[in-house]
Amino acid sequence: MSACELKKKSAPAKPTNQSLVSSGSEYGWPPIQPQRDALHMFFSIRSLSSVRSNRSLVYPAATRFAAIPSRPPIAHGALPTISSTSMVTIASQLPEPFNDAVRALLPDAQVIGIPRGVPPGLPDDASILVAAPIIVRGATAPEHAPAGWPFGLRWVQLGSSGIDFYPRWFFDGPPVTTARGTASQAIAEFVLAAIFSHAKRLPDIWIHDAHEWQMSPLATVAGSTVGIFGFGSIGEAVAQKATALGARVLAVRRRTTNQAAVAGVTFVADIGELLQQSDHLVLAAPATESTRHIVNRASLKLAKPGLHLINIARGSLIDDAALLEALDEGVIGRASLDVTEPEPLPAGHRFYTHTRVRLSPHTSAIGPHNTQELARKFARNFKAFSAGTALEDLVDVRLGY
Ligand SMILES: NC(=O)c1ccc[n+]([C@@H]2O[C@H](COP(=O)([O-])OP(=O)(O)OC[C@H]3O[C@@H](n4cnc5c(N)ncnc54)[C@H](OP(=O)(O)O)[C@@H]3O)[C@@H](O)[C@H]2O)c1
Repeated sequence: MSACELKKKSAPAKPTNQSLVSSGSEYGWPPIQPQRDALHMFFSIRSLSSVRSNRSLVYPAATRFAAIPSRPPIAHGALPTISSTSMVTIASQLPEPFNDAVRALLPDAQVIGIPRGVPPGLPDDASILVAAPIIVRGATAPEHAPAGWPFGLRWVQLGSSGIDFYPRWFFDGPPVTTARGTASQAIAEFVLAAIFSHAKRLPDIWIHDAHEWQMSPLATVAGSTVGIFGFGSIGEAVAQKATALGARVLAVRRRTTNQAAVAGVTFVADIGELLQQSDHLVLAAPATESTRHIVNRASLKLAKPGLHLINIARGSLIDDAALLEALDEGVIGRASLDVTEPEPLPAGHRFYTHTRVRLSPHTSAIGPHNTQELARKFARNFKAFSAGTALEDLVDVRLGY
């Protein structure tokens, strides 16, 4: 059955074209503030105005926003095909540079820019949704899906790697794929920057006058031990770079099989072992129930004195009160935190000013290639979707990533 065959009946009160180019708050959602952090590149609300400017992109008529009854989930590996002769419509909440990149890669598909947030309806021929994060920067999502969800959708592509930015019901419909891998190199480089910064005591080592001319020893990365908690796309990218620098790399992943397959990496039992042995410990696991506060008072007691903790995953992995205690006591030498809970941290939070904390605003993923990487990944999956073959990086909602 083609996407166009998924025709739906007209719905009564639906948003007008004009409302679509406005803030998502019109639909009952908090407006997303313009961002300067890692989400900015993909998800800036500036993209909303682009709904007007695309070829074939303006919604034809309000009556086309028709909700259809929910359908049962589509089993992984048994995806419906899209006829190559049908024009597939992709509803995208990501900014226009992404949409344009997809148009260039998939000239036979129609890409329609839509507002971010929970869609109250979709164009009746939209079979694919590219979704921007919803639960970010204090924004919330309703516990239940809007009437008609998932409309005519047969595949949802997330604009992020983590699935914690979306409500649970997002995953009860068609297959959902993540942006996993599209920023791993950028994040791994950021991790290395944090490691070098700590080892070489940057920026403290720079001097500004003659009286500061005092030599002092610096650590080396070669010969140090880098622990990686969560050995997925990011963890592996960090490991490749760290092993190339002569560091010893220890890692923990959820699965216990195939662990010997990664050259230069020794898998250990749990985060306790990583804490005991690492000079730099990188958190790179998803936010799930099993990773929540995995760094806590008890586990921090095992830490090697002076440990440098680096979090580029999610703030929920760390019990902040326990970390602050360990930092105050000097058990933890430094915490480089790109992510926190909540984001942003409230004014006056101790992480902003603690001498042992280096805080960045969820920005490690930002690089010049994000848009193209995600568009290329999406196009690969689109071809698989059209052919009815397996999609890359399907969410396993039971695992939480
Ligand atoms: N700072 C940022 O801007 C940014 C950007 C992208 C992603 N992230 C965060 O980083 C996370 C990781 O990204 P990724 O692309 O590397 O994801 P990924 O490829 O899915 O890797 C996740 C890794 O975590 C492991 N894991 C899951 N649950 C675990 C547990 N309970 N204990 C130990 N390991 C566990 C997985 O084990 P298996 O290998 O056995 O499955 C896998 O190795 C994302 O979920 C996201 O939250 C942050």
